Amino acid sequence: MSKIKLISVVLGAGKGTRMKSAKPKVMHEIGHLPMVQHIEYLLENVGCAKKVFVSSPDMQDTRDHLTAFDHTIQKQALGTGHAVLSAANYIDGTTDVLVLYGDTPLVTEQTIKNMITARKDYDLVVLGMHPQDPAQYGRLIMDNAGWLTRIVEFKEATKAEKKVTFCNSGIVLINGKHALDLLETINNKNAKGEYYLTDIVEIANQKGLKATAVVGDEKELIGVNSCVELAEAEHIFQTRQRHKFLNAGVTLRDPATTYFSYDTKIDGGCIIEPNVFFGPGVTIEKDVTIRANSYFEDCHIKQKACIGPFARIRPGTEIAEQAKIGNFVEIKKSKIGKGSKVSHLSYIGDSTLGENVNIGAGTITCNYDGYNKYQTILEDGVFIGSNSSLVAPLTIGKNAIVGAGSSITKNINEDEIGITRVDQKNIKDAARRFRKSKRLID
Ligand code: UD1
Ligand code: CA
Repeated sequence: MSKIKLISVVLGAGKGTRMKSAKPKVMHEIGHLPMVQHIEYLLENVGCAKKVFVSSPDMQDTRDHLTAFDHTIQKQALGTGHAVLSAANYIDGTTDVLVLYGDTPLVTEQTIKNMITARKDYDLVVLGMHPQDPAQYGRLIMDNAGWLTRIVEFKEATKAEKKVTFCNSGIVLINGKHALDLLETINNKNAKGEYYLTDIVEIANQKGLKATAVVGDEKELIGVNSCVELAEAEHIFQTRQRHKFLNAGVTLRDPATTYFSYDTKIDGGCIIEPNVFFGPGVTIEKDVTIRANSYFEDCHIKQKACIGPFARIRPGTEIAEQAKIGNFVEIKKSKIGKGSKVSHLSYIGDSTLGENVNIGAGTITCNYDGYNKYQTILEDGVFIGSNSSLVAPLTIGKNAIVGAGSSITKNINEDEIGITRVDQKNIKDAARRFRKSKRLID
């Protein structure tokens, strides 16, 4: 995608005290992706040439994590206006400045594009919304001609201004030519003693510049300040994902109980029963059936496989076409070949199964000796009898069979049977004698 000439400044240095957490607010996740990285991907989709992240001095881990950004540090959290100014070195007077908040992660590409379009006629474009509950958002004050004259913070607002329902999302696009001048004029004479970015609207008007507001949907502009709002944002994100997959031809038997990550990929024709969880890194090809109460992370499921109910598919797993994974089966870092079946009560870890392998109920791969992990290789057509332990490292050759109840510690060659049971002994009359000893029968 071609880059557009735009500097974005993403704010994330605020203390986030209302989260009551040691983790920086912008690193809290929605759909398994930190909020600020939702903004990162948005900016990549918009084609923004330069992304600058503003953080506080103690956020080194966050800076290390956010490699797609240039970084600037706001030494003290003196307000959103002050925060943008800490990126002054990047503001060169020729490029427009788009300010986004790391705690407002769900804004869409289309909305940013609408702002860029409005910028052609105005020096300052603020993104506003009409939320059902205007709560403590800043209020956008428009004049009769429909121009934006100022933004008043909730704490500063008069009773009449609090009744205004047009609210500030925080996102603003500034004509690069005037950006530094506007930002440097902001002062901290207000209820909180902070440098409010929102003051630039009034300042712009005083300087004879033109400001307007573009409207976005409140659902994409939710600002997250607490865990309650984080949960609301997660809900909005999940609803979006559910609609996306339903529209792509995925059947969700009970959409509200299917949980997606930001990067979940599911092709059309799949059927997903209730209570299914997709962690990060999951790809599901077409016509897969996922039965109720299954859990997936970092795995690839190929066409027409059937998984669950009650299956757990862990990272590094690839399940081939038409394979069947049944109830209470856990699979980790393994390849399951085409048409193979692991139908009941098994743990398969660090294993490679060929095609048409059948794993009997209760089979466990013993892949760990307390120090290292070892591989189990089961070639095409292998049949493992129920309740067997396969002690790795282990290779079982093509079409070999393991007798039920075996503990297999040595390799088995092609077409062999491996069995470790002791021979069965039937003791005549012993059951009757046993019961008699307990005086249960005469
Ligand atoms: C801000 C807006 C308000 C708007 C609301 C939308 C101001 C003054 N107010 O209020 O009009 O309705 O967002 O959600 O802008 N930050 C810094 N450095 C600071 C202070 C904040 O980087 O010194 C960052 C925070 O990490 C956060 C963002 O700026 O990502 C917004 O700060 P926050 O304190 O949450 O602002 P609100 O009170 O929500
Ligand atoms: Ca906020």
